[in-house]
Amino acid sequence: MTNIFEDLQEESVGVSIFKDKKPLDHRFLPENLPHRKKQITEIAKHWIEALNGNTPSNITIYGKTGTGKTAAAKFAKEQLIEASRDKNVFIKVEYIRCTDFTTEYQVLTYLCQRLGRDVPNRGWTKGEIVNTFRDILRRNAFGRNLILIVILDEIDILLEKDGDGILYTLTRTDNIAILSISNYLDFKQFIKPRVASSLRDKEIVFPPYDAEQLADILHERSELAFEENTLEESVIPLCSAMAAKEEGDARYALDLLENAGDIAVEEGSEIVKGKYVRQAKDVIEYNKVKDVIITLPTQQQRVLAAIMKLTQDNEEITSGKLFEVYKDISKGDSVTYRRIFDFINELEMLGIISTNTISRGRGKGRTNIIKLQTDSKLIQDNLSAVLY
Ligand SMILES: Nc1ncnc2c1ncn2[C@@H]1O[C@H](COP(=O)(O)OP(=O)(O)OP(=O)(O)O)[C@@H](O)[C@H]1O
Ligand SMILES: [Mg+2]
Repeated sequence: MTNIFEDLQEESVGVSIFKDKKPLDHRFLPENLPHRKKQITEIAKHWIEALNGNTPSNITIYGKTGTGKTAAAKFAKEQLIEASRDKNVFIKVEYIRCTDFTTEYQVLTYLCQRLGRDVPNRGWTKGEIVNTFRDILRRNAFGRNLILIVILDEIDILLEKDGDGILYTLTRTDNIAILSISNYLDFKQFIKPRVASSLRDKEIVFPPYDAEQLADILHERSELAFEENTLEESVIPLCSAMAAKEEGDARYALDLLENAGDIAVEEGSEIVKGKYVRQAKDVIEYNKVKDVIITLPTQQQRVLAAIMKLTQDNEEITSGKLFEVYKDISKGDSVTYRRIFDFINELEMLGIISTNTISRGRGKGRTNIIKLQTDSKLIQDNLSAVLY
C-alpha cells in the first residue's frame, strides 16, 4: 500500500494556488503594516525614552476588532528590541494576552518567570508574588537598569474578571511602562480613580480600515501566500469591500481570502474566482454560528432545539409554547419557566434569535414572539446530540 500522507502531499502539491499558507494565518506578523505607520510611530515616540534609559509613558490603544492593534504592538516590540541591541540599556518587552492570563496573580507569576525568578504557578499569596516581583525590579538584579514594558492585550477581560489590581501593582512599581490594548472605549469604567490617576496614559486610536486600505493589506499578503496569477482580478476588491462592511476588519478580509483559496483547491480550480469569495462568506458565517451553537450549555441547546422545532412547524413562538416543547425535549431534566427567559435573552444577544413584544389587544396583555434568525438546518445539523 502506498503511504496515505505522501499521496495527500502529492495531491496538494498538484494544485499550485498557495505558495505558503502561513501569511494568511492570524498569528503571522508581516514585515510591513500598511496604513499603520502613524500609530506605530506614535508608540515608538513614547518607547524611545527607554533607549535613553528612562521609563516611557503608559499607552492605551483602542480600536475595533481586526484593526491591527495586536499586530502593531508586536511590530513595535520587535523594532524596539532590535534597536536596543547595541545600546547600553536593558529593555524587556513582554506580551501578555489577557485571555490566557486572566488574573493579576497569573500575570505577575508569568512576568517573574520571564525575568528569571522561579516562582510557583499557585500556592503563594498575592502579597508574596507582588513583593517578589517588585524586588526583581527594585534590585535591578541584572546589573544594568532594567526597563520593563508590559503589553496587556485584551485588557478588558482581565479588568472585568479580576479588577484593576494589576494596573495598581504595575503603575506603582519602578521602571515599568504599560501598553494596554482594548476593544472598548469605555474600558476605564473598570478602573478606580486612584489607579486611573497613576496610569496617566497616552491614548492612540486605531480607526477601522476602509476598502482601499484593506485591499493594500491583502495585496501584500497575497503576494506571499499565492502563486503568481492565481487570483481573479475581482478577488481582492471583493474581499476588501465585504470586510469594509464588517467594520473594517482585516482579520475577516484575510479569512475571506484564505477560504476562497481553499474552495478553489477543493473545486480543483487553478485560479481563485470571485464567486469563491461569496461562497467563503457563507462558509465563515456557517462556522461562526456553528461554534456558538456547539459551545452553548446543554439546557440552552435544548431551548434552541425547541425554537427550531416550532419554526420548522411554522408555529408562532410564544414563551409559553416554547416552554412546553422545551420540557418535552428535556425529558424531565428541565429548568424553570423563569430561567427560560434568561436563555432567550442570551440567545438574542448572540444574534441567533430575535424577540418582539406585541400587544394582543385591550385587556389581553402583551406577548413575546420569538423568531429564529439563523438557518434552521444549520441548527439542526449541530444540535443532534441533545435532540436524539
Ligand atoms: N496594517 C496591516 N497590515 C497588514 N496586516 C494587517 C494590518 N492590520 C491588521 N493586519 C492583519 O489582520 C489580522 C488582524 O489584526 P490584529 O490581530 O492586529 O487585529 P486587532 O486589532 O488586534 O483585533 P482584535 O481586537 O480582534 O484583537 C492579523 O492577521 C494582522 O496581521
Ligand atoms: Mg488583538
